[in-house]
Amino acid sequence: MADMPLPSPKATGEVSEDMRADEQLMETLEDAAYWRKVCPHLHVGEHERVQEAAQAAKERVANWQTQAETKRGEFAENGFFHMTPQDLGLGEDDYLERIHALALGVVRLMQHGWPASFIFIYDEAWILVAGASARLEAATGGSGFIGDMYAWYVEPDHGQRGWGPHRDRMGSGPESFRADGTSKLSTTWLALTDAGPNNSCLYVVPATADPLFHKADRQDVDPLAEIFANDPQAYQSIRALPAPAGCAWHFSHRIIHWGSHVARRSSLGPARPPQPRIAMSWVVGDAAYEDPAFPREANLPSPPVHLRVAFVAGQIVAYGGQTKLRKGFRTMCFRFFKKHSQLFTEFYRDKVEFIHFCRPAPAPEVHLKESSRKALETVDVSKLEFATPQDDSKLDGIKGMFGSDSSSEDEDDNDDDDEEEEDNM
Ligand SMILES: [Fe+2]
Repeated sequence: MADMPLPSPKATGEVSEDMRADEQLMETLEDAAYWRKVCPHLHVGEHERVQEAAQAAKERVANWQTQAETKRGEFAENGFFHMTPQDLGLGEDDYLERIHALALGVVRLMQHGWPASFIFIYDEAWILVAGASARLEAATGGSGFIGDMYAWYVEPDHGQRGWGPHRDRMGSGPESFRADGTSKLSTTWLALTDAGPNNSCLYVVPATADPLFHKADRQDVDPLAEIFANDPQAYQSIRALPAPAGCAWHFSHRIIHWGSHVARRSSLGPARPPQPRIAMSWVVGDAAYEDPAFPREANLPSPPVHLRVAFVAGQIVAYGGQTKLRKGFRTMCFRFFKKHSQLFTEFYRDKVEFIHFCRPAPAPEVHLKESSRKALETVDVSKLEFATPQDDSKLDGIKGMFGSDSSSEDEDDNDDDDEEEEDNM
């Protein structure tokens, strides 16, 4: 991707004030025209294009059964497998341009003040998911779309790093595997820029080196420490999973994985400085094991725009705890999610609400920019206090956004300190 440089997400000079995230009303979030203006090179709500991609994917999979069988074997044995741009249905000739368009979309969103995961509002992201779906189903042993979409931008600076070692489902045990050894839940992690050891690519402990891979984890045991305590040589089994832009790794919900620290420039030797690592992921699985986030039949392959936005908002609530966000952002996301929560399955609604209400209590102060105060002129600001399970009803009917809470783990009263720092998988 060296020949396709990306602007900095901090280059906000060309973004007009009225387009910034913190100047929008909730109604604007449902307006495809707003999102088209944020990323004019991408599309929103052209459902036929997504449907065509899904249909083409179904037709292609017939010629891919041998490869699917090989990957299924790797999946059962190691807990992960690699996918090329062609495996993902990205095509031969223009896939780098398509991937770069998504990477640029992430940057444009961030320039406007939106987290990277809002890339899933755009058709191009859903085209990608639809284009990979049939082959993923074949390679995993039958998994379909579940949800859990997220995207990341890792600054190419030392000190930035990925999420710490974790399994995606700590409590899942033997019941979460099929008879052939394949996992009933798994994640596709797609690189939108070249990801390597210098800029926080994925690392895993393969299933073959993990004696706890098929067992549910105990609350009082760190599974990673347990592996190395029992077998110090297991360190040598750790695998770095670099991925050129347009390539993906697909891995089990039980595999221990993390993203590395970005390398110090002084340690790079003759290599060029690290590039930003931009990636997106989504989860597939057996719907009999875990409900999808929303009903698949009615909404796939191209969900309505308001569902896409509400889903991203739900994801920010569910996983934003790993991420520094501006004050009030997660609560705004929760309010938007609540407004559309009837679109989602009970399982997903419960998950988002559980995580939201289990967060630590915020500082009570109200921080609103003057322009946002104007937008909220009809709203009783006193209602924008942090919600608790007892006063859940207060969330209904609030039209504005960016209320009073401080959802960042690093609470700070400085309104200028509104940079995101996304820690990454
Ligand atoms: Fe993960």
